[in-house]
Amino acid sequence: MNGRLFDSLVTGSAGFVGSHLVEALLERGDRVLGVDSFDPYYSSAQKRRNLRRSLHNHRYRFVRGRIQGVNVARYVSKGAVIYHLAAQPGVRGSWGTKFDRYVQNNVLATQALLESAVRSGVRPKVVYASSSSIYGDQPTGPMPEEANPNPVSPYGMTKLAAEHLGRLYARAYGLPFVSTRLFTVYGPRQRPDMAFHRFFRAVRSGRPIEVFGDGRQLRDFTYVGDIVDGIVRAGASDSKHTVFNLGGNSPVPLTDAISYIREVTGRPVKITRRAPQTGDPRATWADNRRARSELKFRPRTPLLEGLRRQWAWQSGEAGGDLVG
Ligand SMILES: NC(=O)c1ccc[n+]([C@@H]2O[C@H](COP(=O)([O-])OP(=O)(O)OC[C@H]3O[C@@H](n4cnc5c(N)ncnc54)[C@H](O)[C@@H]3O)[C@@H](O)[C@H]2O)c1
Repeated sequence: MNGRLFDSLVTGSAGFVGSHLVEALLERGDRVLGVDSFDPYYSSAQKRRNLRRSLHNHRYRFVRGRIQGVNVARYVSKGAVIYHLAAQPGVRGSWGTKFDRYVQNNVLATQALLESAVRSGVRPKVVYASSSSIYGDQPTGPMPEEANPNPVSPYGMTKLAAEHLGRLYARAYGLPFVSTRLFTVYGPRQRPDMAFHRFFRAVRSGRPIEVFGDGRQLRDFTYVGDIVDGIVRAGASDSKHTVFNLGGNSPVPLTDAISYIREVTGRPVKITRRAPQTGDPRATWADNRRARSELKFRPRTPLLEGLRRQWAWQSGEAGGDLVG
């Protein structure tokens, strides 16, 4: 495929959300370039499986490499959208000695991508996958986009820094930049360090699940298909707003989600309690009114149904193993 022919460039395209996004874009007829470094945070076997379906599509080209080395001008022309999902995720791991990975992959990589997008001279729109983690602990209730960012983890801080970088490049160079703030995504291909993936893996092998804290923390679990739909809508929108919450606005306590896991798996769920983790907010809860009105975003997948699909995936496939 000629370098200038891509409608969409997806960074982090072998990851959990990125691989679903690539499939949705191919489905609507886009020519898609995916870039992913296969970062060793979790097993490359899962990432290879994530890519399997799209690699057969003749409109897809995958480049294995770091986004820091991507020359955007070679791949996109006017009207293209860059969906920037590549990142070092994970709240807990962002404390301690591995923080440099968060700075590298979330801050420096984003700056390199923005520079390259500006230098391309064609002003591609950049849609950034930000996170509810930028809100941190807020007064109880749904979090609107205007809430004062108050990250409670180094991870959240780096995601916020990347949002700020995007805003600066928009202001200085007129680069269109939109942040989508994703709320606790789950579903098939979920990362092995995330709660539902760990829970299903434990239940499957008859081990207790580990719950950090009292289990009453609220989470606005949002199905990956709904998130992808929101990201695609943000890419296509000409709204004047540049920040959108993508979440269901229907948070549940973790304990309720655990009873769904019991129902979905039909197996007993034993619980081992662990101390609350530093950096875990009490609640994630999206005020999604802006995305509903401007993007016509309609998250449709009830938690029970989404969990059924994730369990079907995890009990059918080996599921990825966390490395290191
Ligand atoms: N999963 C969630 O619940 C959630 C919630 C909020 C925000 N997000 C954001 O959504 C995005 C996707 O998250 P995910 O859960 O799919 O994570 P993921 O780890 O599955 O996917 C990220 C991908 O980026 C790749 N990557 C990392 N650094 C790279 C670099 N420098 N160059 C090229 N590729 C690189 C990794 O190899 C990985 O495949 C991330 O930006 C994350 O911060 C996710």
